[in-house]
Parts: sequence; C-alpha cells; structure tokens
Amino acid sequence: MGWRHGWDTAKTHKFQRSLLKWYRRHHRKLPWRDNPTPYRVWISEIMLQQTQVQTVIPYYNRFLNRFPDIKSLAEAEEGEVLALWAGLGYYSRARNLHRAARLMIERRGGFPEKYEEVLALPGIGPYTAGAICSLAFNQPRPVVDGNIRRVITRLKGITKYSAKSLFWDQMSAWIPDAKSSFFNQAMMELGATICMPFHPRCRQCPVEGFCEARRLGMENKIPAVQRRQETRRIRIAILVLQHEGRLLVTDGHMPDFIPGRWGFPCQQIQEGKSPKDVASIMCRKMLGRKIPLAASPKISHSITRYRIEGYGFFGRLDDSGKTLQKAGALRWVDIGRLGSLLISSLFKKAVQKLPCPGID
Ligand code: ADE
Repeated sequence: MGWRHGWDTAKTHKFQRSLLKWYRRHHRKLPWRDNPTPYRVWISEIMLQQTQVQTVIPYYNRFLNRFPDIKSLAEAEEGEVLALWAGLGYYSRARNLHRAARLMIERRGGFPEKYEEVLALPGIGPYTAGAICSLAFNQPRPVVDGNIRRVITRLKGITKYSAKSLFWDQMSAWIPDAKSSFFNQAMMELGATICMPFHPRCRQCPVEGFCEARRLGMENKIPAVQRRQETRRIRIAILVLQHEGRLLVTDGHMPDFIPGRWGFPCQQIQEGKSPKDVASIMCRKMLGRKIPLAASPKISHSITRYRIEGYGFFGRLDDSGKTLQKAGALRWVDIGRLGSLLISSLFKKAVQKLPCPGID
C-alpha cells in the first residue's frame, strides 16, 4: 500500500517499530497484562472505563480472586458481584458483566472470538470489543480512548475539531497485522506515561521524530484545552417509602451517574411529564397499588455535569411489602444506618425535605 493517512508504508513501519521497541522495555507491569486471556482483559477494560489504573488494581485483584473465570462469575448472585464493585461506581458496568457471563455460559461457547459477537455482549462497545480482540486474540482491531485520541492529535498536529471516525481510521491505518496487542497497549501506555495532557515528556518519547505538534513547538497547545462540558439539567423523582422505623433502599433503580451502590428508588422525569405522575407510576410498579404521597419542595443538587432538580415523594406502608417488585436488590434500612449506606447527598437532602425522621 502507498500512502496511509499521510504517511507512506516505510514511515508507518518505522513508527510501529520504534513504538513497539519502547513498549517492550518500558511498559508498566499491570496485573491484567500477565496472562491476557479474554476474560481477564474484559474485566480490566470494563473496570478501567472512567476509573484510574491505580484505583482499579486492588479491585481487579479481588474480583479475579473471587471470580477467576466466566463460570464462577455467571454462578454468583448479582449482589455479590455488586458488593465487589462497591466503590468503583457506575454499577451498570458490574450488572452487564454478570449478564454477559451468564449469556456466555448459557450458550456454552466460552468467550467468542469474532469481533461482532464480542460487540453484541451486554456492556461492550467498539472500544472494549477492539481491546478484547486485539489484546487477547491479537487481532488487528483498532482501539481509541481519550489517551489515544490525544496521542494522535499531537502526532498529526490536529488543531481543528475532528470527527471520531478520523481517530479510528488513523488507528486502523497504523495497527500492524502482527503484534496488534502490543501496538494498542503501546499507544495506551504512551498516552498514560509520556504524552500526558499537560507537560508531555517529549524528550523521553520514542516517536518524537514523528510528531507534528513537537515539530511545530506546539506540544503544549495541542490539543487545545476543551471548553468545559455543557451541563445537563435533569429532573428526578425520588421515592422514600417508610415502614415502621425503616426506609426502603435499592441498588437497582438509580440513574448511573448517582454515586454509591444504594439509594432511594428514583427515576428521571422526561420532558412534559409531571414529577407526581412519575412517582405514582413508580409506586404502582413496585407495590402494585397507589398510596398517598407527600411531596417535598424542589431539591437542587449537582453531580459532575448534571444539574439535578430532585422531587422527593414520601409514603408510609402498613406492611413491609412482601410483594415488592424489584429491579435490583431492595432493603429496609434503619433510619440511623442510612447515613453510612447512602453516599450521594441527593438522598440525604431528600430525607431532610420530607416529613420523615431525619438522618445525620
Ligand atoms: N486504560 C484502558 N485500558 C488500559 C490497559 N489495558 N492498560 C492500561 N491502561 C488502560
């Protein structure tokens, strides 16, 4: 082949060789890099989404100790999987891992090797499918994450907004047919340890000579610092149900951006819907009937880029509801224990604004 994204074949080969040689010598020892089976790569890549390497390591080791393979994960109760996840946040990642493990065991096929089949598993998008196929099966599948996007932006001196596809196409053009596992990891490693967001360590960079940003003396200006992500306004109905001295909490009814495993059942209120109607529907779904609900004043709360308007609704139950319909685990919790169980202060504000006994 002749020109590939502006580089001829000889230049591309030289780039690959320099990068791979550096990676062989300088890569960090990380637990998922020993014995990169598809299962081990999968768990690590899911944990590494939204979470730093150093945070992930102890979670990864504990998880792999308890669930060394697909079968042990599939046979576990969801509650145990979530318990090992507690603290990593974004719990839908753990639920999807568990669902995918069960699907694979039902199909009796183990981990699929075909990219399209990997991609079809719950919780797996193009990045994770590419990472599994390249890191575990050594298939020449590209991966693009934030680090790799920054590396490409500097190498190619990109100063304008560029579509996502440009980065994927660039990685497809660069990835070698052999050693694609090491190539992808080398690109990740370069982004994490050398080509950092601020003060890149260009003097230690194995591909400095290929870098357009460096040639222009622009390595500290490219990529341009992004404008802050736009905030999103979101309305949420929060249902606080009381029976005797206890309140009902769940690990299954919450939008993913709310931190902590446990919370009151809550649901996003779509445009045009009223908070009260959403709360009544939630109630009917969970209890099979309507009960009188007291509304709180509006609760204002921010989580990352979400500006939340919370609407709390409080109801008393005469019984602890053996017929409660679940979307996850439900627990009746003593009011005194809520403070340590609920991480998000969105819920604490809800309790304070509702006519139920307060928490610390
Ligand atoms: N970030 C995402 N995937 C990674 C991996 N496999 N190794 C190190 N950092 C990563």
